[in-house]
Amino acid sequence: MPTIAPRTSFPILVAPSLLAADFSRLTDEIKRVEEAGADFLHLDIMDGHFVPNISFGLPVIQAIRRVTHLKFDVHLMLSQPRNFVDAFHQAGADSLTVHIEVEGDTEALLDQIQTTGMECGLALNPQTPIELLYPFLDRLDLALIMSVEPGFGGQVFMPEALDKVKDLHQEAIRQDLDLSIEIDGGITPQNAPLCRAAGVRWLVAGSSIFGASDATAAIAAIRG
Ligand code: DX5
Ligand code: ZN
Repeated sequence: MPTIAPRTSFPILVAPSLLAADFSRLTDEIKRVEEAGADFLHLDIMDGHFVPNISFGLPVIQAIRRVTHLKFDVHLMLSQPRNFVDAFHQAGADSLTVHIEVEGDTEALLDQIQTTGMECGLALNPQTPIELLYPFLDRLDLALIMSVEPGFGGQVFMPEALDKVKDLHQEAIRQDLDLSIEIDGGITPQNAPLCRAAGVRWLVAGSSIFGASDATAAIAAIRG
């Protein structure tokens, strides 16, 4: 049995990933998870370049902004995020997370996001060492640890992500920071307790929430 550390006192937030919704019924699907207790809606934006897939973009965010009160947690899987920061802010993003693997000046990109007033996140792919995030932690609202290769929903959780979360959690404590650690990919009611115990505060889940017949029970189980 894995050792599970005691829970600390921060609230646990659950963000259903819209990628797993029925796109022919977006309003109904969003209302379903809003009524089921979601804290945020996680929106995965893909450019077919940074990741080998294309999802949806600004017009969809503008449209769904009108049908829900949920905050939008936007995860940009784009090679050129700097060209779109203001556009996502205007479309209704509340938090904007960019990948640390993107080429260019990370500090300048974070400046750009923070200037808009959006919450600011950095995401890390499974193959990227966790230490690369450490120089930026003091200016982040959230750090997103990928527990699958980005690009597709419905993949299997990679347990190695838990070690990264634990290391990051310790580093945040060492730096005396109130960092929100978010995990994304393959999250289920079964592995969520391990994530929470490792120090995760935000759990993103697509398939296991939108694919559930009872989204309320799925969200409650993931929240713990
Ligand atoms: C993958 C996305 C995830 C994905 C999660 O690139 O970042 O947010 O939609 O979906 P599930 O929970 O189905 O793995
Ligand atoms: Zn995501």
